[in-house]
Amino acid sequence: MNASAAVTPKPKVLVTGANGQLGKELRQLEKAWPQFDFLFLSREDLPIHHFELVRQFFAAEHPDYLINCAAYTAVDKAESEKELAYQINAEAVGVLAAICKQQHCRFIHISTDYVFDGSGQRPYTEEDPCSPQSIYGASKYQGEQLALKYDPGCIIIRTSWVYSSFGKNFVKTILRLLKEKPALSVVNDQQGSPTYAADLAEAILLIISSTSWKPGIYNYSNTGNITWYTFALAIAALQQSSVPIQGISTDQYPTAARRPAYSVLDTTKITETFGVPIRDWKESLARCLSFCTFSA
Ligand SMILES: NC(=O)c1ccc[n+]([C@@H]2O[C@H](COP(=O)([O-])OP(=O)(O)OC[C@H]3O[C@@H](n4cnc5c(N)ncnc54)[C@H](OP(=O)(O)O)[C@@H]3O)[C@@H](O)[C@H]2O)c1
Repeated sequence: MNASAAVTPKPKVLVTGANGQLGKELRQLEKAWPQFDFLFLSREDLPIHHFELVRQFFAAEHPDYLINCAAYTAVDKAESEKELAYQINAEAVGVLAAICKQQHCRFIHISTDYVFDGSGQRPYTEEDPCSPQSIYGASKYQGEQLALKYDPGCIIIRTSWVYSSFGKNFVKTILRLLKEKPALSVVNDQQGSPTYAADLAEAILLIISSTSWKPGIYNYSNTGNITWYTFALAIAALQQSSVPIQGISTDQYPTAARRPAYSVLDTTKITETFGVPIRDWKESLARCLSFCTFSA
């Protein structure tokens, strides 16, 4: 081969919020996707609400793709930290979108089922009206709108009930409580679909490696229409735990933020557009538990 022949550089994929659940699952997949040059940035590496730093970083690195996994995700705390939640989940997303548009960087942003009010009775499609009931949901909804305003070519993925062997989540909380408590009470009147962050990470990489880029909003979750109680029972069963679990109502477990009573997402669009597989929630849960380093 001619030594002077130009080598085509690999597409550079920037991942912000890389120390969160989704960011860490993307890191796990790095070796399996050698066609991309990944750059994983934690909050310390690139705080997305420091706009000047973000501008400088993009001007120096010129990424081809941005996967924004950074978010203010403390749903209850957001009720008392409204300004910070909006700064990270909305304002910063608008800035990222504007920079991506200007630099021809393809932008994938992650949003939430909490943009819906939960009064629905069939899986929510991407076109259903949004009416968030919490500061977190409202800040994420504004983030979606700013992303679409400043970069209409972006892709927004709404997901729900995310868990992983990394970070803090419902699955790990239940595993811990099964070890610590003689009995558990879990909310049984909120319906949704869990999402294993490893599956979502794979879906995102399938989208950026697909030959067609079709902007817009897409739903993604595992299969399932379950309650937190059903989810807890499944975790306990897979752990062969005999700790009794009872279902309770949302009223019996008051939280600062209101959560949708129903937030199952219709995932037809993402499968039809990108051929992304939607995995069975129980199989994904079993896979995740096999990676959790502690057991109940
Ligand atoms: N978790 C869920 O159940 C759920 C459900 C629906 C949608 N989502 C959405 O899915 C996406 C990924 O969520 P996740 O579960 O992976 O969240 P996560 O585990 O909380 O990770 C979020 C990451 O963002 C980082 N971060 C926070 N503020 C930042 C800032 N200003 N600049 C840069 N990084 C910042 C956090 O840093 P630190 O590690 O330093 O805190 C954390 O590593 C988010 O957009 C979230 O809204 C999550």
